[in-house]
Amino acid sequence: MNRARRRFSKPLFDRRAQLGCVPVLRTFASLMILSAAACRRDGAALGGAGGGAGSTGGAGGGWLDGGSGGEGSEAGMEAGAAGRADAGADVGRDVAVDVRRDAAVDVGTDAAVDIRRDAAAPDGSADAGLAMTLKSAAAQSGRLIGAAIGASHLSEAAYVTTAAAAFDFVTPENEMKWDATEPTQNVFTFGSGDAITAFAQQNGMKVKGHTLVWHSQLPDWVSAITDATALHDAMINHITQVVSHYRGQVIAWDVVNEAVDDDGESLRDSIFYQYLGAGYLDDAFNAAHAADPGALLLYNDYGAEGAGAKSDYVYSMVQGMLARGVPINGVGLQMHTGPADTSPSPAQVAANMERLEALGLNVVISEMDVQICTSDVDTQETRFHDIVAVCVAEPLCLAVTVWGVPDKYSWLNGVNCATPQPLLFDDNYGPKPAFSGVLNAFLGL
Ligand code: XIL
Repeated sequence: MNRARRRFSKPLFDRRAQLGCVPVLRTFASLMILSAAACRRDGAALGGAGGGAGSTGGAGGGWLDGGSGGEGSEAGMEAGAAGRADAGADVGRDVAVDVRRDAAVDVGTDAAVDIRRDAAAPDGSADAGLAMTLKSAAAQSGRLIGAAIGASHLSEAAYVTTAAAAFDFVTPENEMKWDATEPTQNVFTFGSGDAITAFAQQNGMKVKGHTLVWHSQLPDWVSAITDATALHDAMINHITQVVSHYRGQVIAWDVVNEAVDDDGESLRDSIFYQYLGAGYLDDAFNAAHAADPGALLLYNDYGAEGAGAKSDYVYSMVQGMLARGVPINGVGLQMHTGPADTSPSPAQVAANMERLEALGLNVVISEMDVQICTSDVDTQETRFHDIVAVCVAEPLCLAVTVWGVPDKYSWLNGVNCATPQPLLFDDNYGPKPAFSGVLNAFLGL
Protein backbone atom coordinates (compact mmCIF):
# COMPACT_ATOMS: atom_id res chain seq x y z
CA MET A 1 0.00 0.00 0.00
CA ASN A 2 1.61 3.19 -1.00
CA ARG A 3 1.62 6.23 1.18
CA ALA A 4 0.11 8.51 -1.41
CA ARG A 5 -3.04 6.48 -1.76
CA ARG A 6 -3.46 6.01 1.96
CA ARG A 7 -2.96 9.63 2.63
CA PHE A 8 -5.07 11.20 -0.05
CA SER A 9 -7.78 8.67 -0.77
CA LYS A 10 -10.10 10.20 1.81
CA PRO A 11 -12.01 12.95 0.15
CA LEU A 12 -11.96 16.40 1.68
CA PHE A 13 -15.71 16.14 1.65
CA ASP A 14 -15.62 13.27 4.12
CA ARG A 15 -13.21 15.07 6.36
CA ARG A 16 -15.55 18.03 6.46
CA ALA A 17 -18.44 15.76 7.36
CA GLN A 18 -16.43 14.22 10.18
CA LEU A 19 -15.64 17.65 11.49
CA GLY A 20 -19.25 18.67 11.46
CA CYS A 21 -18.89 21.00 8.54
CA VAL A 22 -21.92 21.58 6.40
CA PRO A 23 -21.05 21.68 2.75
CA VAL A 24 -23.08 24.08 0.70
CA LEU A 25 -22.97 23.47 -3.01
CA ARG A 26 -23.26 26.14 -5.60
CA THR A 27 -22.09 26.37 -9.14
CA PHE A 28 -19.23 28.57 -10.12
CA ALA A 29 -17.20 27.97 -13.23
CA SER A 30 -18.17 24.32 -13.11
CA LEU A 31 -16.39 23.85 -9.80
CA MET A 32 -17.81 22.37 -6.68
CA ILE A 33 -17.83 25.03 -4.06
CA LEU A 34 -18.07 24.21 -0.41
CA SER A 35 -18.99 26.49 2.39
CA ALA A 36 -15.96 27.00 4.54
CA ALA A 37 -17.79 29.57 6.59
CA ALA A 38 -20.37 26.98 7.51
CA CYS A 39 -17.46 24.80 8.46
CA ARG A 40 -15.99 27.55 10.59
CA ARG A 41 -19.25 28.35 12.25
CA ASP A 42 -19.81 24.75 13.18
CA GLY A 43 -16.26 24.43 14.35
CA ALA A 44 -16.65 27.42 16.58
CA ALA A 45 -19.93 26.15 17.93
CA LEU A 46 -18.59 22.68 18.56
CA GLY A 47 -15.54 24.10 20.20
CA GLY A 48 -17.56 26.14 22.63
CA ALA A 49 -16.30 29.34 24.14
CA GLY A 50 -12.80 30.06 23.07
CA GLY A 51 -12.86 27.27 20.56
CA GLY A 52 -13.04 29.35 17.47
CA ALA A 53 -12.17 28.39 13.97
CA GLY A 54 -8.54 28.89 14.67
CA SER A 55 -8.31 26.36 17.41
CA THR A 56 -10.04 23.68 15.39
CA GLY A 57 -7.16 24.06 12.99
CA GLY A 58 -7.81 21.09 10.79
CA ALA A 59 -11.26 21.91 9.60
CA GLY A 60 -10.02 22.61 6.14
CA GLY A 61 -12.00 25.82 6.10
CA GLY A 62 -10.84 28.80 4.16
CA TRP A 63 -10.36 27.16 0.82
CA LEU A 64 -9.52 29.39 -2.03
CA ASP A 65 -12.65 31.09 -3.04
CA GLY A 66 -13.67 30.30 -6.56
CA GLY A 67 -16.31 32.97 -6.59
CA SER A 68 -16.05 36.65 -6.35
CA GLY A 69 -18.15 38.88 -4.22
CA GLY A 70 -21.80 38.30 -4.05
CA GLU A 71 -24.28 38.10 -1.28
CA GLY A 72 -23.16 34.72 -0.14
CA SER A 73 -19.76 36.07 0.73
CA GLU A 74 -21.12 38.85 2.85
CA ALA A 75 -23.54 36.54 4.56
CA GLY A 76 -20.76 34.17 5.35
CA MET A 77 -18.58 36.89 6.72
CA GLU A 78 -21.28 38.06 9.07
CA ALA A 79 -22.23 34.60 10.15
CA GLY A 80 -18.60 33.80 10.72
CA ALA A 81 -18.20 36.83 12.93
CA ALA A 82 -21.20 35.84 14.97
CA GLY A 83 -19.93 32.36 15.57
CA ARG A 84 -16.43 33.24 16.59
CA ALA A 85 -15.58 33.46 20.22
CA ASP A 86 -11.93 34.21 20.36
CA ALA A 87 -10.54 36.56 17.81
CA GLY A 88 -12.80 39.38 16.87
CA ALA A 89 -14.59 39.27 13.57
CA ASP A 90 -14.21 36.06 11.65
CA VAL A 91 -13.26 37.20 8.23
CA GLY A 92 -13.02 33.68 6.93
CA ARG A 93 -14.23 32.86 3.49
CA ASP A 94 -17.64 31.47 3.04
CA VAL A 95 -17.04 29.39 -0.03
CA ALA A 96 -14.32 27.10 -1.12
CA VAL A 97 -13.28 25.29 -4.21
CA ASP A 98 -12.58 21.63 -4.38
CA VAL A 99 -9.84 21.82 -6.95
CA ARG A 100 -9.61 18.07 -7.23
CA ARG A 101 -12.52 18.27 -9.62
CA ASP A 102 -10.14 20.01 -12.00
CA ALA A 103 -7.74 17.14 -12.11
CA ALA A 104 -7.01 16.38 -15.71
CA VAL A 105 -4.86 13.35 -15.17
CA ASP A 106 -5.10 10.63 -12.60
CA VAL A 107 -1.55 10.46 -11.39
CA GLY A 108 -2.12 7.03 -9.95
CA THR A 109 1.47 6.19 -9.28
CA ASP A 110 2.76 4.05 -6.49
CA ALA A 111 6.34 5.04 -6.99
CA ALA A 112 8.17 8.30 -6.62
CA VAL A 113 8.74 10.06 -9.91
CA ASP A 114 12.27 10.56 -11.08
CA ILE A 115 12.18 12.48 -14.34
CA ARG A 116 15.69 11.29 -15.10
CA ARG A 117 14.13 7.86 -15.50
CA ASP A 118 11.04 9.06 -17.31
CA ALA A 119 12.13 10.26 -20.70
CA ALA A 120 11.41 13.83 -21.64
CA ALA A 121 9.98 14.61 -25.04
CA PRO A 122 12.45 13.80 -27.84
CA ASP A 123 13.07 17.43 -28.65
CA GLY A 124 14.02 18.08 -25.06
CA SER A 125 11.00 20.26 -24.40
CA ALA A 126 8.49 19.57 -21.69
CA ASP A 127 6.43 16.47 -22.09
CA ALA A 128 2.95 17.89 -21.67
CA GLY A 129 1.60 14.68 -20.22
CA LEU A 130 4.30 14.51 -17.61
CA ALA A 131 3.92 18.19 -16.82
CA MET A 132 0.19 17.72 -16.31
CA THR A 133 0.86 15.20 -13.59
CA LEU A 134 2.03 18.10 -11.45
CA LYS A 135 -1.27 19.94 -11.27
CA SER A 136 -3.12 16.67 -11.06
CA ALA A 137 -1.08 15.59 -8.06
CA ALA A 138 -1.53 19.00 -6.45
CA ALA A 139 -5.26 18.78 -7.02
CA GLN A 140 -5.40 15.31 -5.50
CA SER A 141 -3.72 16.68 -2.42
CA GLY A 142 -6.28 19.50 -2.34
CA ARG A 143 -3.78 22.23 -3.19
CA LEU A 144 -3.19 24.58 -6.07
CA ILE A 145 0.17 24.63 -7.82
CA GLY A 146 1.00 28.02 -9.21
CA ALA A 147 3.62 29.89 -11.18
CA ALA A 148 4.46 33.52 -11.69
CA ILE A 149 3.60 34.27 -15.31
CA GLY A 150 4.98 37.08 -17.41
CA ALA A 151 2.74 38.49 -20.14
CA SER A 152 5.74 39.08 -22.39
CA HIS A 153 6.34 35.32 -22.58
CA LEU A 154 2.83 34.40 -23.69
CA SER A 155 3.85 34.62 -27.33
CA GLU A 156 6.26 31.71 -26.83
CA ALA A 157 4.47 28.46 -27.59
CA ALA A 158 6.59 26.25 -25.34
CA TYR A 159 6.11 28.65 -22.44
CA VAL A 160 2.35 28.62 -22.84
CA THR A 161 2.17 24.86 -23.32
CA THR A 162 4.33 24.11 -20.31
CA ALA A 163 2.70 26.62 -17.99
CA ALA A 164 -0.80 25.51 -18.90
CA ALA A 165 0.07 21.84 -18.56
CA ALA A 166 1.86 22.00 -15.23
CA PHE A 167 0.08 24.71 -13.25
CA ASP A 168 -3.49 25.52 -12.26
CA PHE A 169 -2.77 28.79 -10.49
CA VAL A 170 -1.23 32.00 -11.82
CA THR A 171 0.36 35.03 -10.22
CA PRO A 172 1.19 37.85 -12.63
CA GLU A 173 4.89 38.46 -12.07
CA ASN A 174 4.70 42.23 -12.64
CA GLU A 175 1.54 43.04 -14.57
CA MET A 176 -0.78 43.92 -11.69
CA LYS A 177 1.70 46.00 -9.71
CA TRP A 178 1.03 49.70 -9.17
CA ASP A 179 3.50 50.92 -11.80
CA ALA A 180 1.89 48.62 -14.38
CA THR A 181 -1.74 49.32 -13.57
CA GLU A 182 -1.74 53.04 -12.75
CA PRO A 183 1.41 54.61 -14.25
CA THR A 184 -0.29 57.99 -14.27
CA GLN A 185 -2.65 59.01 -11.52
CA ASN A 186 -6.16 57.76 -12.19
CA VAL A 187 -5.21 56.45 -15.64
CA PHE A 188 -5.47 52.69 -15.44
CA THR A 189 -3.73 50.33 -17.84
CA PHE A 190 -4.93 46.80 -17.55
CA GLY A 191 -3.75 45.37 -20.86
CA SER A 192 -0.93 43.18 -19.57
CA GLY A 193 -2.87 42.04 -16.53
CA ASP A 194 -5.83 41.25 -18.73
CA ALA A 195 -3.58 39.15 -20.98
CA ILE A 196 -2.66 37.08 -17.94
CA THR A 197 -6.23 36.60 -16.78
CA ALA A 198 -7.25 35.65 -20.33
CA PHE A 199 -4.46 33.07 -20.49
CA ALA A 200 -5.55 31.70 -17.13
CA GLN A 201 -9.19 31.50 -18.12
CA GLN A 202 -8.40 29.80 -21.40
CA ASN A 203 -6.53 27.12 -19.50
CA GLY A 204 -8.74 26.66 -16.47
CA MET A 205 -6.26 28.30 -14.11
CA LYS A 206 -7.07 30.46 -11.11
CA VAL A 207 -5.39 33.81 -10.57
CA LYS A 208 -3.97 35.57 -7.54
CA GLY A 209 -3.59 39.30 -7.96
CA HIS A 210 -0.19 40.69 -7.00
CA THR A 211 0.14 43.25 -5.49
CA LEU A 212 -1.84 46.33 -4.44
CA VAL A 213 0.33 48.18 -1.90
CA TRP A 214 4.11 47.75 -1.99
CA HIS A 215 7.03 50.10 -1.51
CA SER A 216 8.63 48.79 -4.71
CA GLN A 217 7.60 49.19 -8.35
CA LEU A 218 5.65 52.29 -7.42
CA PRO A 219 5.07 54.84 -10.17
CA ASP A 220 6.95 58.10 -9.74
CA TRP A 221 3.79 60.07 -9.12
CA VAL A 222 3.08 58.09 -5.97
CA SER A 223 6.63 58.46 -4.70
CA ALA A 224 6.33 62.20 -5.23
CA ILE A 225 3.30 62.59 -2.94
CA THR A 226 4.12 64.51 0.23
CA ASP A 227 0.70 64.77 1.80
CA ALA A 228 -1.02 62.16 3.96
CA THR A 229 -4.52 62.79 2.69
CA ALA A 230 -3.41 62.72 -0.93
CA LEU A 231 -1.51 59.48 -0.40
CA HIS A 232 -4.39 57.86 1.45
CA ASP A 233 -6.84 58.87 -1.25
CA ALA A 234 -4.50 57.62 -3.96
CA MET A 235 -4.02 54.29 -2.21
CA ILE A 236 -7.73 53.71 -1.66
CA ASN A 237 -8.56 54.72 -5.22
CA HIS A 238 -5.86 52.44 -6.60
CA ILE A 239 -7.06 49.46 -4.61
CA THR A 240 -10.70 50.12 -5.41
CA GLN A 241 -10.15 50.50 -9.14
CA VAL A 242 -7.80 47.55 -9.58
CA VAL A 243 -9.72 45.11 -7.42
CA SER A 244 -13.01 46.15 -9.00
CA HIS A 245 -11.58 45.63 -12.48
CA TYR A 246 -10.50 42.09 -11.66
CA ARG A 247 -13.51 41.19 -9.55
CA GLY A 248 -14.65 37.77 -10.69
CA GLN A 249 -11.33 37.07 -12.37
CA VAL A 250 -8.95 36.79 -9.46
CA ILE A 251 -9.69 34.64 -6.46
CA ALA A 252 -7.13 36.19 -4.13
CA TRP A 253 -5.05 39.34 -3.70
CA ASP A 254 -1.71 40.04 -2.14
CA VAL A 255 -3.12 43.23 -0.66
CA VAL A 256 0.01 44.45 1.08
CA ASN A 257 3.47 43.22 0.17
CA GLU A 258 6.64 43.33 2.27
CA ALA A 259 5.48 45.90 4.83
CA VAL A 260 7.71 44.63 7.63
CA ASP A 261 11.28 45.76 8.10
CA ASP A 262 13.99 43.16 7.73
CA ASP A 263 15.04 43.56 11.36
CA GLY A 264 11.60 42.37 12.40
CA GLU A 265 11.23 45.17 14.89
CA SER A 266 9.02 47.61 13.03
CA LEU A 267 7.11 48.26 9.88
CA ARG A 268 9.22 49.12 6.87
CA ASP A 269 9.92 52.83 6.54
CA SER A 270 7.96 53.09 3.29
CA ILE A 271 6.12 56.13 2.02
CA PHE A 272 2.92 54.52 3.25
CA TYR A 273 4.18 54.09 6.80
CA GLN A 274 5.77 57.53 6.82
CA TYR A 275 2.60 59.37 5.90
CA LEU A 276 -0.18 57.06 7.00
CA GLY A 277 1.25 55.18 9.96
CA ALA A 278 0.55 51.53 10.71
CA GLY A 279 -3.14 51.97 9.95
CA TYR A 280 -2.49 51.89 6.23
CA LEU A 281 -2.55 48.11 6.29
CA ASP A 282 -6.02 47.99 7.85
CA ASP A 283 -7.25 50.60 5.41
CA ALA A 284 -5.82 48.70 2.44
CA PHE A 285 -7.47 45.43 3.42
CA ASN A 286 -10.78 47.13 4.12
CA ALA A 287 -10.71 48.81 0.72
CA ALA A 288 -9.87 45.57 -1.07
CA HIS A 289 -12.67 43.76 0.73
CA ALA A 290 -15.14 46.48 -0.14
CA ALA A 291 -14.18 46.21 -3.82
CA ASP A 292 -14.40 42.42 -3.94
CA PRO A 293 -15.96 40.80 -0.87
CA GLY A 294 -15.33 37.36 -2.35
CA ALA A 295 -11.59 37.62 -2.82
CA LEU A 296 -9.20 35.95 -0.41
CA LEU A 297 -7.06 38.73 1.02
CA LEU A 298 -3.45 38.00 1.89
CA TYR A 299 -0.47 39.68 3.49
CA ASN A 300 2.69 38.60 1.62
CA ASP A 301 6.32 38.83 2.70
CA TYR A 302 9.77 37.28 2.54
CA GLY A 303 12.08 36.34 5.38
CA ALA A 304 9.07 35.59 7.55
CA GLU A 305 8.52 31.99 6.48
CA GLY A 306 10.03 30.26 9.48
CA ALA A 307 11.42 31.31 12.85
CA GLY A 308 12.83 34.66 13.80
CA ALA A 309 12.01 38.25 14.64
CA LYS A 310 10.44 39.04 11.27
CA SER A 311 8.05 36.10 11.26
CA ASP A 312 7.20 36.91 14.89
CA TYR A 313 6.41 40.47 13.85
CA VAL A 314 4.23 39.32 10.96
CA TYR A 315 2.41 36.93 13.26
CA SER A 316 1.69 39.65 15.83
CA MET A 317 0.72 42.09 13.10
CA VAL A 318 -1.88 39.83 11.50
CA GLN A 319 -3.12 38.77 14.93
CA GLY A 320 -3.77 42.43 15.68
CA MET A 321 -5.52 42.91 12.37
CA LEU A 322 -7.84 40.00 13.10
CA ALA A 323 -8.58 41.34 16.57
CA ARG A 324 -9.60 44.65 14.98
CA GLY A 325 -11.88 42.90 12.54
CA VAL A 326 -9.74 43.63 9.50
CA PRO A 327 -10.68 41.35 6.59
CA ILE A 328 -7.42 39.46 6.24
CA ASN A 329 -7.67 35.81 5.24
CA GLY A 330 -4.14 34.59 5.06
CA VAL A 331 -0.42 35.07 4.86
CA GLY A 332 1.83 34.45 1.86
CA LEU A 333 5.25 33.01 2.62
CA GLN A 334 7.37 33.97 -0.38
CA MET A 335 10.08 31.31 0.08
CA HIS A 336 12.87 32.65 -2.10
CA THR A 337 15.47 30.31 -0.75
CA GLY A 338 18.63 28.37 -1.30
CA PRO A 339 18.99 24.63 -1.13
CA ALA A 340 20.32 24.63 2.42
CA ASP A 341 17.87 23.08 4.82
CA THR A 342 18.22 25.67 7.52
CA SER A 343 17.02 29.01 6.29
CA PRO A 344 14.32 28.31 7.17
CA SER A 345 14.08 24.61 7.95
CA PRO A 346 10.92 22.71 7.02
CA ALA A 347 10.16 22.28 10.73
CA GLN A 348 10.36 26.04 11.25
CA VAL A 349 8.06 26.66 8.32
CA ALA A 350 5.60 24.10 9.67
CA ALA A 351 5.61 25.69 13.11
CA ASN A 352 5.05 29.14 11.64
CA MET A 353 2.21 27.91 9.45
CA GLU A 354 0.63 26.21 12.42
CA ARG A 355 0.55 29.32 14.57
CA LEU A 356 -0.94 31.33 11.70
CA GLU A 357 -3.49 28.59 11.09
CA ALA A 358 -4.34 28.65 14.79
CA LEU A 359 -5.47 32.24 14.24
CA GLY A 360 -7.85 30.92 11.60
CA LEU A 361 -5.68 32.18 8.74
CA ASN A 362 -4.81 30.40 5.54
CA VAL A 363 -1.24 30.25 4.33
CA VAL A 364 0.30 29.90 0.90
CA ILE A 365 3.82 29.39 -0.35
CA SER A 366 3.67 32.34 -2.68
CA GLU A 367 6.93 32.81 -4.62
CA MET A 368 9.13 29.78 -4.19
CA ASP A 369 12.44 29.46 -5.97
CA VAL A 370 15.59 27.65 -4.89
CA GLN A 371 18.77 29.12 -6.29
CA ILE A 372 21.66 26.73 -6.70
CA CYS A 373 24.62 29.00 -7.28
CA THR A 374 26.98 26.70 -5.40
CA SER A 375 24.86 23.59 -5.06
CA ASP A 376 23.32 20.98 -7.32
CA VAL A 377 20.00 19.89 -8.74
CA ASP A 378 19.62 16.99 -6.32
CA THR A 379 19.88 19.19 -3.26
CA GLN A 380 17.45 21.55 -4.95
CA GLU A 381 15.03 18.70 -5.51
CA THR A 382 15.14 17.83 -1.82
CA ARG A 383 14.56 21.43 -0.81
CA PHE A 384 11.53 21.82 -3.08
CA HIS A 385 10.18 18.49 -1.93
CA ASP A 386 10.52 19.17 1.75
CA ILE A 387 8.92 22.61 1.68
CA VAL A 388 6.01 21.48 -0.49
CA ALA A 389 5.54 18.51 1.84
CA VAL A 390 5.10 20.95 4.72
CA CYS A 391 2.31 22.68 2.81
CA VAL A 392 0.67 19.37 2.01
CA ALA A 393 0.73 18.44 5.69
CA GLU A 394 -0.85 21.70 6.85
CA PRO A 395 -4.63 21.83 6.61
CA LEU A 396 -4.88 25.51 5.76
CA CYS A 397 -1.95 25.70 3.35
CA LEU A 398 -3.83 26.26 0.12
CA ALA A 399 -1.24 26.57 -2.61
CA VAL A 400 2.37 26.51 -3.63
CA THR A 401 3.48 29.01 -6.26
CA VAL A 402 6.91 28.94 -7.90
CA TRP A 403 8.29 32.24 -9.11
CA GLY A 404 8.52 31.51 -12.81
CA VAL A 405 8.35 28.67 -15.33
CA PRO A 406 11.73 28.00 -17.05
CA ASP A 407 15.03 28.91 -15.41
CA LYS A 408 15.93 31.24 -18.26
CA TYR A 409 13.28 33.76 -17.22
CA SER A 410 13.94 33.78 -13.50
CA TRP A 411 14.22 37.18 -11.86
CA LEU A 412 17.28 35.80 -10.04
CA ASN A 413 19.41 35.36 -13.15
CA GLY A 414 22.58 37.35 -12.63
CA VAL A 415 21.69 38.43 -9.10
CA ASN A 416 23.79 36.18 -6.86
CA CYS A 417 25.28 34.22 -9.74
CA ALA A 418 24.79 34.11 -13.48
CA THR A 419 22.56 31.05 -13.68
CA PRO A 420 20.98 30.07 -10.34
CA GLN A 421 18.56 27.69 -12.11
CA PRO A 422 15.97 28.18 -9.38
CA LEU A 423 12.81 26.79 -10.98
CA LEU A 424 11.19 23.49 -11.99
CA PHE A 425 11.87 23.62 -15.74
CA ASP A 426 15.19 24.06 -17.53
CA ASP A 427 15.80 26.52 -20.34
CA ASN A 428 14.31 24.09 -22.87
CA TYR A 429 11.25 23.45 -20.72
CA GLY A 430 12.51 20.05 -19.65
CA PRO A 431 11.28 19.13 -16.17
CA LYS A 432 14.14 19.09 -13.68
CA PRO A 433 14.66 16.92 -10.62
CA ALA A 434 13.03 19.80 -8.72
CA PHE A 435 9.87 19.05 -10.70
CA SER A 436 9.95 15.49 -9.39
CA GLY A 437 10.52 16.78 -5.89
CA VAL A 438 7.39 18.92 -5.97
CA LEU A 439 5.34 16.21 -7.69
CA ASN A 440 6.38 13.57 -5.16
CA ALA A 441 5.61 15.87 -2.26
CA PHE A 442 2.07 16.35 -3.57
CA LEU A 443 1.79 12.59 -3.92
CA GLY A 444 2.89 12.15 -0.32
CA LEU A 445 5.99 10.29 -1.42
C1 XIL B 1 10.05 40.61 -9.00
C2 XIL B 1 9.90 40.18 -10.45
O1 XIL B 1 10.10 38.80 -10.52
C3 XIL B 1 10.87 40.92 -11.32
O2 XIL B 1 10.62 40.65 -12.69
C4 XIL B 1 10.77 42.42 -11.06
O3 XIL B 1 11.79 43.09 -11.80
C5 XIL B 1 10.93 42.72 -9.60
O4 XIL B 1 9.95 42.00 -8.86
N1 XIL B 1 8.97 39.70 -4.12
C6 XIL B 1 7.80 39.99 -4.77
C7 XIL B 1 7.76 39.97 -6.25
O5 XIL B 1 6.77 40.14 -4.11
O6 XIL B 1 6.86 40.90 -6.77
C8 XIL B 1 9.11 40.20 -6.84
O7 XIL B 1 9.02 40.02 -8.25
C9 XIL B 1 10.12 39.27 -6.24
C10 XIL B 1 10.24 39.50 -4.76
